[in-house]
Amino acid sequence: MPEVRRLLARAGVADPESLEAYRSLGGYAALARVAERGPAWVLSELEASGLLGRGGAAFPAGRKWRAVAEAAGRRRVVCNADESEPGTFKDRVLMEQDPFAVVEAMTIAGLTVAAEDGLVYVRGEYRLAAARLRRAIDQAERAGLLGADVAGTGRAFWIRVVRGAGAYICGEETALFNSVEGRRGEPRNKPPFPTQAGLFGDPTLVNNVETLCNVPIVVLEGASGFRRYGTDRSTGTKLFCVSGHVERPGLYEVPFGTTLGELLALAGGVWRGRRLQAVLCGGAAGTFLGPDRLDLPLTFEGLQPVGGTVGSGAVIVLDETASLWDIVLRVARFFQEESCGQCVPCRVGTQRQLEIVTRLASGRARPEDPQLLADIGAAMTDASICGLGQTAAGAVLSALALRPGAPSSSNGGASAAHGRPGEVV
Ligand SMILES: Cc1cc2nc3c(=O)[nH]c(=O)nc-3n(C[C@H](O)[C@H](O)[C@H](O)COP(=O)(O)O)c2cc1C
Ligand code: SF4
Repeated sequence: MPEVRRLLARAGVADPESLEAYRSLGGYAALARVAERGPAWVLSELEASGLLGRGGAAFPAGRKWRAVAEAAGRRRVVCNADESEPGTFKDRVLMEQDPFAVVEAMTIAGLTVAAEDGLVYVRGEYRLAAARLRRAIDQAERAGLLGADVAGTGRAFWIRVVRGAGAYICGEETALFNSVEGRRGEPRNKPPFPTQAGLFGDPTLVNNVETLCNVPIVVLEGASGFRRYGTDRSTGTKLFCVSGHVERPGLYEVPFGTTLGELLALAGGVWRGRRLQAVLCGGAAGTFLGPDRLDLPLTFEGLQPVGGTVGSGAVIVLDETASLWDIVLRVARFFQEESCGQCVPCRVGTQRQLEIVTRLASGRARPEDPQLLADIGAAMTDASICGLGQTAAGAVLSALALRPGAPSSSNGGASAAHGRPGEVV
């Protein structure tokens, strides 16, 4: 299936620092239509589009927007641009290459849910993205597309940019609120959900950058136009961040339903003519898939039965020479370091998991270790407060399923003892 550039239509084409360039390529046509048709129309199109959140949880965007629109009191819009999932860089490209699209989409959200305050929470390391967003906000304000009277609607909407300080957990929506409010970056218990009580206690619409950037497409093409791409349950296109051992690593936009093998082929296949060992799909919070999964359609519904996830769209490719267990060790260390420590299953579980994976990766595994990993994983998944703890065991356990024999050396994936190497993509 070929690449389709819809979200990426302007990336690398339009000057990202010029409002005129953005408008000349269709920018702000969606806001004009929203001003004309009104919030009720936007909500019904968004619901009918089937757009699911791209930040990892795949929550229906239309349902979330309606919940905030119908909430009482002051509302807020937050764009989650923390993007700390390892191997993920799609939001960065959108913000750096098409910042006005993020600003326009947030403005549409503001008008639709009747919020006046918008905030983009940008990953601390993304200096260029933050600078370009600020520049876009300035220009939009000067052009009357943002501020006290948005596009002559008589409605106000403002956006400010806040930069994160480098904690993975602050991408979790409620930890993000705490971070902005000057508290410890720890997730809150839910309920109440952000749509009821979010940033500063106000009903808050939180969406990922990529989710928001889909909204102008829905507005301009209508729900049926949006649904031309993708499957019935995973509608539209998806950005995949392909990295690792491929010929052409990079960001690829494809319709949902494209198979893993087709995506890897777009990226030029496994590099140097080597064979595929595994793909870490969805980042650290994702799962390892073996070469027998190349026919798997990349959709929310297609990945679920094999324990996979679209997640953040990270696709990390390992060739036959890579040390699978060294990668697993990094994943385990990542979760141990990034756990906020608030709840016991995750705080203790990520530590114990790291200890066992360290033994496995160095060939000092004990006979009981695989079972211990499974037990700890089940406890973290079932009893952790937030998604970090709930997904911390996924990659580790999927690696164990892929290579049931514990590695006998640090080169955990390469030796024949670890099973049949994969086929050439
Ligand atoms: C540990 C953790 C980190 C997260 N990091 C991000 C992130 O960087 N960006 C993001 O959009 N969502 C992230 N999320 C998901 C958010 O909590 C939330 O579901 C999302 O921003 C909602 O937007 P969406 O409905 O458009 O996907 C994270 C969740 C968890 C548990
Ligand atoms: S699951 Fe982990 S990251 Fe989430 S609240 Fe508990 S300790 Fe913190």
